[in-house]
Amino acid sequence: MNCLNTFFGNKVEKSVLSIILSVEKASILLNEKLLNGGSEIHGSTGNKNVQGEKVQKLDIIAHNLFEKEFRSNNNIHSVLSEEKEEIINLNNSGEYLIAMDPLDGSSNIDVNIPVGSIFSFFKNDAHSNSANEGFLRKGKEQSFAAYIIYGTATMFVIGINENVYGFTLNVKKEKYFLTHKNIIIPEEGLIFSINEGNNNGIDKEILNYLKYCKKLNNQGRRTHTARFIGSLVADFHRNMLKGGIFIYPNTADKPKGQLRLIYECNPIALIALYAKGKSLNKSEDILEVYPKNNHERTSFIVGSKRMVNQLMSFYKNEPN
Ligand code: F6P
Ligand code: MN
Repeated sequence: MNCLNTFFGNKVEKSVLSIILSVEKASILLNEKLLNGGSEIHGSTGNKNVQGEKVQKLDIIAHNLFEKEFRSNNNIHSVLSEEKEEIINLNNSGEYLIAMDPLDGSSNIDVNIPVGSIFSFFKNDAHSNSANEGFLRKGKEQSFAAYIIYGTATMFVIGINENVYGFTLNVKKEKYFLTHKNIIIPEEGLIFSINEGNNNGIDKEILNYLKYCKKLNNQGRRTHTARFIGSLVADFHRNMLKGGIFIYPNTADKPKGQLRLIYECNPIALIALYAKGKSLNKSEDILEVYPKNNHERTSFIVGSKRMVNQLMSFYKNEPN
């Protein structure tokens, strides 16, 4: 069976392979921490991050594990992390930039619900005259993207060369093995994922789409089902495999949206694109958005093509 090393060995440049293997190594260490649980990983550090959110102990553990591993890889130019306001400069002649959310779904850590790690990879080219400009580019310029889902099994999902592959961790062998070849998001799905706690502060077009999803058919049966885990990675992963739509709109609480463009939405959007799905920030393709700052937030809609189009038809006042 193919592990990451054998599968990508003759498919990608050496520098890309070595970065994939760095993510593999650090994520396996993080997975061990998660499996062992206990007070070391549970609870808050008592601090808030750049964005004013409570920092969980595991957010820092995860950041440190990935940063340490990336520091020992001389192919990496710099790292942007949700956990650090400033860019971390590593090697001036490194070929790749990495933007990451080291621990996605922090609110789920203490309650044993899947969390994730998300990575966006850019080539260090003409754009990055200064490290600070390096990450301010459209998502469509990403070279590849990946996430880890620490769920009932731990998986490494990567969107690269216009394909999406899923590898599942064999804990004993300490390697991920290919289990999902060429993942495709079903064009139509039944699942809608949104935090309905925000319903009093979101666009009426989205409320109308939710009403549409909740309509019964002529036999009085439901037509859709609702699922919201609260970890973007886990919600997206399920919808990608089963067919569905994930919606995190701008809300009264978070007028710009909750999710971060560069290290949450862009990598997920690239994977969705390669899996033949669709993503938008509501008015435009998320991969076409030019970020103005490294920690920018955005509204985000991603999933099965027809579901995303259906939602958009409410904005265009098309008959449903
Ligand atoms: O990283 C932000 C995040 O934890 C996502 O993983 C998730 O989709 C979202 O926030 C959930 O936020 P809330 O529980 O406030 O709706
Ligand atoms: Mn996150």
